[in-house]
Amino acid sequence: MRPRLDLVERFITLQLNSGPEPVPEAGAYVLEAGGKRLRPAILLATSRLLGYQGGDLDVRYGAIVEMIHTASLVHDDIIDSATVRRGRATANHRWGNQLTVLLGDWLYLRAIELALEVADIPAMQTLSFATTQMIEGEILGLALQGTGRLTREQYLEITRRKTAELFAAACALPTHFSPAFASYRPALEEYGRNIGMCFQIVDDILDIVSSQQRLGKPVFSDLLEGKLTLPFILALPHATEGERAVVERVLIEGELGSTTPEALRELLDRHGAVDEARRVADEFGVRAVAALASLPSGPALDALAAAPRFVVEREF
Ligand code: IPE
Ligand code: IPE
Ligand code: MG
Ligand code: MG
Repeated sequence: MRPRLDLVERFITLQLNSGPEPVPEAGAYVLEAGGKRLRPAILLATSRLLGYQGGDLDVRYGAIVEMIHTASLVHDDIIDSATVRRGRATANHRWGNQLTVLLGDWLYLRAIELALEVADIPAMQTLSFATTQMIEGEILGLALQGTGRLTREQYLEITRRKTAELFAAACALPTHFSPAFASYRPALEEYGRNIGMCFQIVDDILDIVSSQQRLGKPVFSDLLEGKLTLPFILALPHATEGERAVVERVLIEGELGSTTPEALRELLDRHGAVDEARRVADEFGVRAVAALASLPSGPALDALAAAPRFVVEREF
């Protein structure tokens, strides 16, 4: 995918440069910090799988999806008061909330304009559905912030909306490139949704088990931001009253207080909660691969089939 991904990069830079200062500067700052480009990579692989050729729709929609993802990150960092992402100061930390809200808005709307130029209404519907779901996931998450009694079902619903639907859209968009591709849409959406679920669960695990140096963002930030994630949801029913009180205090007060990351990890390990969460992530990975069964074989299919393993085994 590398040569096409480079074109996606160039396409995004061109868009940023069309905006008023400081959009080019702040946009380049956020994008140049890296990021895995997983959504455009999967979109490009899907496009290749379908045999799309002769145009640049794959590059355009790859850029659109990454711009929407980046918009969600810069807004997410304001919501979470995050100061570090992708190994450097967040845009909100550097430029303040006012400009960063506008940068996110600009990225969202410029992405929508890029899609409108194609004038493919069903593709627009796929995109706007995923984006609305993503924002609803963030709203739902915010409404349930600080809740020590978040259920596994609520967690999975938030996860599907805030992360999995954009992956589903990234996989489904190339099926709009030709009427001949339409029959593959349900399978590719199913693949994307499941790899997206897997991806967010692993993100939540890494927040607990990794280090800031490897992740490029601080660890234990979910709990400190009031967000209960799957490992905690799995461990808490087995925890003592006292342990539950400690976790709930961190959730509400936003600081570790008398506890430590080591103590929290020990609590989770004692109940095998991180391993269990990994198993849940694996299950979604397996479901993603199963959804590929009826798709044309070849290197692109092999890449998509290998992606869940990359997602599960990644360290950042
Ligand atoms: C971070 O996404 C937000 C989540 C949905 C977990 P990524 O981990 O894909 O972020 P970058 O683009 O690689 O920085
Ligand atoms: C992902 O959630 C945010 C969106 C999908 C908008 P997180 O809050 O877990 O993402 P990080 O951990 O800050 O990257
Ligand atoms: Mg966040
Ligand atoms: Mg996270």
